[in-house]
Amino acid sequence: MPASSGSFDPVAPESLSEESVAAAVAAALAAITAAADLPALKQVRLDHAGDRSPLALANREIGSLPPSAKADAGKRIGKARGQVRAAMEQRQLVLEQERDEQVLRQEAVDVTMEYHPFGRGGRHPLTTIQERMADIFVAMGYDVVDGPEVESEWHNFDALNLGPDHPARSMQDTFFVESADSGLVLRTHTSPVQIRTMLDRPPPIYMVAPGRVFRTDELDATHTPVFSQIEGLAVDRNITMADLKGTLDHFAEALFGAGLVTRLRPSYFPFTEPSAELDLQCFVCRGASTQDGGAPCRTCSSEGWIEWGGCGMVNPRVLTACGIDPQEYSGFAFGMGLERTLMFRHGITDMRDMVEGDVRFTRPFGLEV
Ligand code: PHE
Repeated sequence: MPASSGSFDPVAPESLSEESVAAAVAAALAAITAAADLPALKQVRLDHAGDRSPLALANREIGSLPPSAKADAGKRIGKARGQVRAAMEQRQLVLEQERDEQVLRQEAVDVTMEYHPFGRGGRHPLTTIQERMADIFVAMGYDVVDGPEVESEWHNFDALNLGPDHPARSMQDTFFVESADSGLVLRTHTSPVQIRTMLDRPPPIYMVAPGRVFRTDELDATHTPVFSQIEGLAVDRNITMADLKGTLDHFAEALFGAGLVTRLRPSYFPFTEPSAELDLQCFVCRGASTQDGGAPCRTCSSEGWIEWGGCGMVNPRVLTACGIDPQEYSGFAFGMGLERTLMFRHGITDMRDMVEGDVRFTRPFGLEV
């Protein structure tokens, strides 16, 4: 026997006694049962099964026992630790299941629940009709052209054969940009875009120019100082009034329905010669309201025709002002108001509805994007 064994203390440490081990197991089982959730159980595992838990510490004492006592103590501790581990595993399963059920409950979606989505918004009907009109011309090979809203008097008037004494130049119609001699106005029509295009490129020219225009009108049911037009211009060899008529008829059909035609009435514009007022055959009654016994028509006031815009053959003086030889080229032009078109197309009675931006007005037009 080695000398040291003489001083060996044969008394088993208290921590390995049956009572201590049973108490440690009881404490562990109580803590396991009390653990309300997985984090709590994790802490219980550290406290009762971790390296510094009473049972782990007791386990370490086994080594100091005399060989005869080791097996007994080892069995006791092993059984105790197994008991605790098993209870821990069982509680772990129960708590995991509880957690999963809770997650399912919290993340449940009631697909039958009523919902009130915020409106996604939509584009203004003026924008969409403008695009629809431009698209009809794009399909015929026209370009869509933009021009400035603050325009030089020369583009807005002079080049269009509107001399300095023309009434449209008076203060009554035109917003002038300060100072009075700035030579700038808010464009009163989209026709200056014709001039810009003709100056910009040689014929053949086929273009439309939708855009905002400005006139010093009071805002009322049928006027607004800011409104929109679409301008059309074709300049090429051998363009005739028949081309103008055919183009406008196609435009009318594409926008209002098959078989509709337009009518030209003699008129005057300084920039076209000859000039015409453009009427659209009523797309609701198609003239039936003018016949004997026909029902009255609100859309055309039983006229059979709706005033739509102005048009004509480009005045040779305008071509010349833009450096285009009127001997070689001819052209047609037309222009119409978009608000007015939208009004009769949709039975809108007050123009103010179109400029005030109330979604209750625009919503019934649908959410075109
Ligand atoms: N610019 C004219 C207007 O505003 C319309 C028009 C355009 C007439 C082109 C003839 C040719 O009234």
